[in-house]
Order: sequence, then structure tokens, then C-alpha cells
Amino acid sequence: MGETKLKIAIQKSGRLHDGSVNLLRECGIDVINGINKLKTESSNFPLELYFFRDDDIPQYVEDAVADIGIAGENVVYESNRKVGVVEDLGFATCRLSIAVRKGDQYDGASFLEGKKIATTYPLLLQQFLDKNQVKAEIHQISGSVEIAPGIGLADAICDIVSSGSTLFMNGLKEAEMILKSRTVLIKNGNLSAEKEALLEKLLFRVQAVKKAKNNKYILLNAPNENLQQIISYLPGMKSPTVLPLAQPGWSSVHSVLNENDFWEIIEKLKSAGAQGILVVPIEKMIL
Ligand code: PRP
Ligand code: ZN
Repeated sequence: MGETKLKIAIQKSGRLHDGSVNLLRECGIDVINGINKLKTESSNFPLELYFFRDDDIPQYVEDAVADIGIAGENVVYESNRKVGVVEDLGFATCRLSIAVRKGDQYDGASFLEGKKIATTYPLLLQQFLDKNQVKAEIHQISGSVEIAPGIGLADAICDIVSSGSTLFMNGLKEAEMILKSRTVLIKNGNLSAEKEALLEKLLFRVQAVKKAKNNKYILLNAPNENLQQIISYLPGMKSPTVLPLAQPGWSSVHSVLNENDFWEIIEKLKSAGAQGILVVPIEKMIL
């Protein structure tokens, strides 16, 4: 009997591909660069990788062609498939938005009344229209949605926006966001106990990588008379490490800071007399 392997579906090419492979590598999972474009595996983790169009990933996970998958919430919700959302992966967040011609005066959803909107997201678009009690004609196409207004096929589009450059190049502007979409890990609802255990192992690593990205390691020199004050600004994992410096009256303080509070705390530390502040990235973080 062969070893159980977890099958993961990731995007073949496009916005999520590199981020997905990088995340696995940051989790210490070697991905073999095979010539086979459909499938490869890891040399040091029981994982098989399948490369699919992102829009197809929820279906393949529901049907157990793959056990888990990496996809945007946009395709997960649009597909309406029964899959479990396991974890926000924290990369390649995007927006599903309505976009109109650059010169149009968009003054709210009623602008769309009676108009023709091209999209690959008919379900999510219809929900938005219903919620706003707008009647519009949805023109479902399978790709290159952004060229539809320019060739007279539609008055507006509903599509993914990331940097906004696709819209800009096509003479369009973002008018309204209808979904903020995170990139998530999804799973099939009936995984075997062995596969659930492998998924736990993978998730443990993903969470360590994510935490590390959100935190920085900080080292600084503190005058002893302000040590307690400085320590009170530093959360640390348990509490900060304090070591005496060779120079009397000074200590070296080490701690971990959350990215979000970073600048505010640095300001406070400086005004409490901290010197020689070093901030370094953390590769992995296990609590
Ligand atoms: C989306 C969308 C645009 C592009 C927008 O495609 O359809 O082509 O990304 O990005 P920008 O704002 O940075 O220019 P997606 O990544 O979902 O791939 P797909 O439509 O090929 O599946
Ligand atoms: Zn797609």
C-alpha cells in the first residue's frame, strides 16, 4: 500500500500561481519543477500538486479530484460549490468590482438600470443587482471581459481588479466594489482521517509563515532608568528578553512587534530614550 498523499489544486498560471507555489516553499515544502504541466509533487512532504484554471478549482475540490485547493473567494463564491474555507492565506487579495467607461458619471447602482454588463461572475453580479433593486442585462462571457465596453458589447463590466492597470489600459474606471476577495485554502468535505492529519500539518506551517510575516523582531538599547517604561511598550511573545550591556546603566531589550502597531511603538520607544533600534524580519514563528 502506498503512502497517503494530500492532493492540492493550484492555479496553472495567473495572479495566484506564484504566490501559491511560494507559500508552499516558505512552508519548507519542496516543489519539484516537473516538465508535466498538469501535475507535480513534493520531494519532502506527502503532497501532490495539480495545476488548474482557478475558476475550476472549487469544483475539483468538491468532486475530490483534489483534496484541497488555493483559490480566491471570488471564484469560491461564484462557483457555489460545497467546499470548506479553511484559512485566509494572506496574499493576492483583490476586489470584484463594477467598472464603467472613463468618461461616465457613475452615481450609484441605479446607473446600471437597463444597461448591459459583461462578466464572468453572473451569480455574484446578480446578487449585487438584486440587493440594489436594479434591473440590468448580464452578458456572461468567458474571458477578456475588459474589452467588452470598447467594442460595444456592453456598457459596463463586473470583474476582478487588483492593481487596476487592466481597467486603465482599456479606458475603464472602477465604479463600485461588490466583494473584497481574499485568497483562501479550501478543502473537500469528506477527507479521510489520514488526509485531515496531513492538512493539519500543512496548516500548522502556513500559520507559522503568516504570523512571521506580520511580525518583526526588534532589538534595542535602553537606559536602565527607563527600562520598565520601555518594556511596557513591548508585548513580546511572553515578555521581552532583557540582557545587561557591557556599558553600565544600559540594557539590551529583545522582543517581537506586530506590523500594525509598529510605527506607533517605535515612536514611544524613541521618546523613552531607546537607542540603536534594530528591526529584523522573522522567517517562521511558532507560538
Ligand atoms: C483578473 C481580471 C483582470 C486582472 C486584473 O484576472 O480578469 O484580467 O486580473 O488585474 P489588474 O487590476 O492588476 O490589472 P484573474 O487574475 O482573475 O485571472 P483570470 O481571469 O485569467 O482567471
Ligand atoms: Zn480565473
